[in-house]
Amino acid sequence: MGGVSARLEDLPLRPDLRGQKPYGAPQAPLPVALNVNENTHPVPQDVADDILDSIARALRDVNRYPDREFTALREGFAEYLGHGLTRDQIWAANGSNEVLQHILQAFAGPGRTAFGFSPTYSMYPLLTRGTGAQWVSGTRAADYTVSASDAASQVADAAPDVVFLCAPNNPTGTPLHLDVVEAVYEAADGIVIVDEAYFEFAPADARSALTLLPGRERLVVSRTMSKAFAFAGARVGYLAADPALIDALRLVRLPYHLSALTQAAASAALRHAPVMLGMVDEIVAQRDRITATVEALGYTPHESWTNFVLFGGVDDPATTWQALYDQGVLIRDVGIPHHLRVTAGTADETTAFLDALASVGSAA
Ligand SMILES: Cc1ncc(COP(=O)(O)O)c(C=O)c1O
Repeated sequence: MGGVSARLEDLPLRPDLRGQKPYGAPQAPLPVALNVNENTHPVPQDVADDILDSIARALRDVNRYPDREFTALREGFAEYLGHGLTRDQIWAANGSNEVLQHILQAFAGPGRTAFGFSPTYSMYPLLTRGTGAQWVSGTRAADYTVSASDAASQVADAAPDVVFLCAPNNPTGTPLHLDVVEAVYEAADGIVIVDEAYFEFAPADARSALTLLPGRERLVVSRTMSKAFAFAGARVGYLAADPALIDALRLVRLPYHLSALTQAAASAALRHAPVMLGMVDEIVAQRDRITATVEALGYTPHESWTNFVLFGGVDDPATTWQALYDQGVLIRDVGIPHHLRVTAGTADETTAFLDALASVGSAA
């Protein structure tokens, strides 16, 4: 056909989406990519082989629609999570982003609001607005913590339909203790989501919000296989909640939203959970090494219970980001003034980052 293609402004886009920016973490083919909090360790070969066998078996029936209720996978997640959970309390989708979207489709939407304590995961506002709901930002203390009393009073004032508690928080790494979850739940009438995407990187004695589920039918705990499980490319996220809440999500999901191949791959990976999670201790060690070394270079790292570190004291983040990029190291400028965020990689990748940062010079 040829000719000039239309501009976005020329299309009859929903007015509430005009001027919005899509999610846009740069994807650049650099040798050391530490910008989107992936697990940079590949899946071990023998586990990959077993996953491949499962996918091959599923492929034989791929002429049929998959199990719409992904029963075996839900059983796998219930077993992995423990806490006495059963499959009727589990939901899953293509990444926890889609899991969160399902919650918002069911409980937010036009005329409703969703709330989170900024800075927090950048997809929450995007997902919220995608359903036609309004995003409301709460605030954190200067060190990015939020206390139970402050959190409860902010939530009571905002009276949102959905509250996001990112525990631990992205992009700051900040732990969020269960007293905050309890207080926010009491202060809210709406759904309270505790996003535990990075929970496996927390100290071994950290308590999960899963322990708070009994008797709290508006509470949701979401998790992902993208981080500790080294499965980001497979796109599998999941949650635990009251069975009635799971029924609400059935109203908004697309039929057969989890492909047979995804279900097979995720179930197989779960059977190897201890091996898949085998690199977590090593990643935590690299995270702590980043914290210690950037501090020695004069920057101010924030406490992290995740697989990444946010550090302040960066004179000009754009310049430092570019200097690292030019040395083949991709990290993330999350838009917080004088801060940058880096994911803990393998020992070699972490060394490459730390050497590159040191070569840029010490903090001002
Ligand atoms: C806090 C948080 N929640 C959810 C996600 C989404 O992960 P996925 O959709 O890969 O499961 C991320 C990814 O970075 C995240 O940081």
